[in-house]
Amino acid sequence: MSLRKFMHPRNKYKKVPDFKELALLYPEFRKIAITNLAGKVKIDFKNEESLKVLTEVLLKHDFNLNVKVPPNKLVPTLPLRLNYILWIEDLMTHASFNEMKKVHGIDIGTGAICIYPLLITKMYGNQMIGTEVDETSIQTAVENIENNNLQHLIKVLKVNEETILKGILEEDKVYHFTMCNPPFFEIEGMSEKVVKRLPPRNAPTGNETELTVQGGERAFVTQMIEESMEFKERVKIYTTMFGRRSNLLFLLKLLKKKNIENATWTEFCQGHTKRWGLAWSFLSKDIIDLTNAPVIRKSGDYIARLLKEQRPAEIQFPMRHKFSSLDHLVRFLEETMEELHVQIKELNLPIDDFNGWSCQLIAQENTWSYARRKRRLAQRLINQSKENETECTTDDKNDDTRNNSIEERVETSMEEQSVTKQPLLICSFFVEVVEHEESEDDDVKISIVYEKGTGGKNALETFRQYLINKLDVREHFQKRQAKSNKKKRKRLKTSDNEKKSFASDDVESA
Ligand SMILES: C[S@@+](CC[C@H](N)C(=O)[O-])C[C@H]1O[C@@H](n2cnc3c(N)ncnc32)[C@H](O)[C@@H]1O
Repeated sequence: MSLRKFMHPRNKYKKVPDFKELALLYPEFRKIAITNLAGKVKIDFKNEESLKVLTEVLLKHDFNLNVKVPPNKLVPTLPLRLNYILWIEDLMTHASFNEMKKVHGIDIGTGAICIYPLLITKMYGNQMIGTEVDETSIQTAVENIENNNLQHLIKVLKVNEETILKGILEEDKVYHFTMCNPPFFEIEGMSEKVVKRLPPRNAPTGNETELTVQGGERAFVTQMIEESMEFKERVKIYTTMFGRRSNLLFLLKLLKKKNIENATWTEFCQGHTKRWGLAWSFLSKDIIDLTNAPVIRKSGDYIARLLKEQRPAEIQFPMRHKFSSLDHLVRFLEETMEELHVQIKELNLPIDDFNGWSCQLIAQENTWSYARRKRRLAQRLINQSKENETECTTDDKNDDTRNNSIEERVETSMEEQSVTKQPLLICSFFVEVVEHEESEDDDVKISIVYEKGTGGKNALETFRQYLINKLDVREHFQKRQAKSNKKKRKRLKTSDNEKKSFASDDVESA
């Protein structure tokens, strides 16, 4: 399931850009465009240069911004940036700051492109401050501002990396909002983790200085919340973005602990990836009530509860075992289903709030055990024919003819078995990332719910076993299974002991 439909309603990238038009209009785009046999124009999202050109061309085409993305710097994806900006616009309107032109905003960690201030000032013509710690990023940010003649609206401030808000607010000024796309990763082990926060199907971009910070995004935003308590109403609404849902939950609790009740959050959906936005204010709810402010999307736990009730067949393993992101895994699964001739259909759910990839799978026949069955059947027929040979000594057929006829019989027999009117298996399929509170080593969980099919639940189990082998996760899977069996045994033992002690209590009290 693509999350595109959950983008902000005013996000122009809700509709996929017309690559053919871009190729016709921009020579630099033509260089990275690939035309397939059907005449469809595509680009290679796994190539960093293609991503860079796409962002530059879209900024020109859709916002009339002349931007150069410097080499080795984070390439900003526009659908996510727009989701965040449009949510801030909604918050401003909700707070009755109706004239966006008069709104004064601060972008913390503006980066090498100064992407948020460029887009925001171009869209609304207001004033923006961008803060940044990295000298090289400041240089290119200023170049981009000057190339677009936006110096009168955007100011970039070099800040100390020890602070986030301190030292940037001027005494006599009113600031309507702060925004931030914080560095995501902890300083250690960044190189192997960087790929996890990537936009859908995209090449890794960005460098260590841009993407890492001591303690990761959780520590960064914790500090931001603490500093905001010093400045309180001097900023009307503080906001930030996150890459991990567990961090959102942690920071919502932190706000509560600090008695900051005037807060809200939203999801930012694009492609198959999701980010989260958080906003808080020290103004009284009579002035701005964030608790009933508009959100783009807040998914509940309908599917999670449904899955729990239906006791699905599951496969869980560490993401880093083989995949760099959920998109990477989804791509692998899509290819696997194609190989198996298993049809993928959109899942019809009454409430679509699943935090991952979901679909319905329809298998007309058992293609996953086919190869094994074929081998076994051939062996059986060879054995049979050998037996017949010893009985009938007048047989003058040579080996080739005999083997050919066996193959034909195997094919016919397999075909006969597979000609069924009803599909063998129809199941709902859910793939999600399971975050761990203590570490960034996420797990992936696949849940398969049997719907119907002539193969019954047995077909689902053989299909699951096939996927475990194909994903090459049997080892992890067995370890998990052993752990959960141990837990179950322990629980049973405890409840047995409890029963015994209850029983003896009963006997004693009788
Ligand atoms: C993930 S990048 C975001 C860049 C840009 N805003 C975007 O969305 O593409 C985070 C940025 O924050 C900067 N940064 C890190 N610590 C900072 C601090 N204490 N104050 C301001 N910027 C900081 C980094 O140098 C980096 O450019």
